[in-house]
Amino acid sequence: MYKLTLVPLFALFSLISAIPEQLPDKIDKLEKRKPYNGEGLLYFPSVVNASGTLNACGGTNSDSDRVAAIPSAVFDESYCGKKVKIQRGDGYGEPIGATIVDQLECDGCGPSDLGLSPALWINFTSFNEAMNPINITWSV
Ligand SMILES: *[C@@H]1O[C@H](CO)[C@@H](O)[C@H](O)[C@H]1NC(C)=O
Ligand SMILES: *[C@@H]1O[C@H](CO)[C@@H](O)[C@H](O)[C@H]1NC(C)=O
Ligand SMILES: *[C@@H]1O[C@H](CO)[C@@H](O)[C@H](O)[C@H]1NC(C)=O
Repeated sequence: MYKLTLVPLFALFSLISAIPEQLPDKIDKLEKRKPYNGEGLLYFPSVVNASGTLNACGGTNSDSDRVAAIPSAVFDESYCGKKVKIQRGDGYGEPIGATIVDQLECDGCGPSDLGLSPALWINFTSFNEAMNPINITWSV
């Protein structure tokens, strides 16, 4: 009886110990590729934070650059310079690409929210301030 249960258990253990070598990276990437549905918030790259104008990617941008800040829950430096594809949550208009240059850190920001520079934000809202935040879906 014991032998019968021990063998599969052993096989299971060796399987489990093999998993951490291989899977987390793949799960991580799949997780990151999923489309997010959240709020697009007006974000000013020219005034990133009180400590300076350097963004989390170590660069500077103006508000007329069409750039985005991804949530700090998702951000790591490998995202710097990558494209994010953004579409209005209501499906209106075409998806628009923007470059990731920063992480979004603010009170009340959710892990699926995205910071949109003014130049990018107007592409979705046509300057309608009532549309800040705007419901969006986005993926990297
Ligand atoms: C604030 O600026 C510093 C550098 O001046 C930067 O390292 C940090 O990531 C910035 N914070 C945010 C939220 O972008
Ligand atoms: C945002 O848009 C999605 C897709 O249309 C919808 O399912 C969701 O309920 C909307 N969320 C809000 C807060 O309007
Ligand atoms: C975004 O808005 C800018 C400024 O109005 C415009 O020049 C540009 O063509 C727009 N891009 C897209 C993809 O809508």
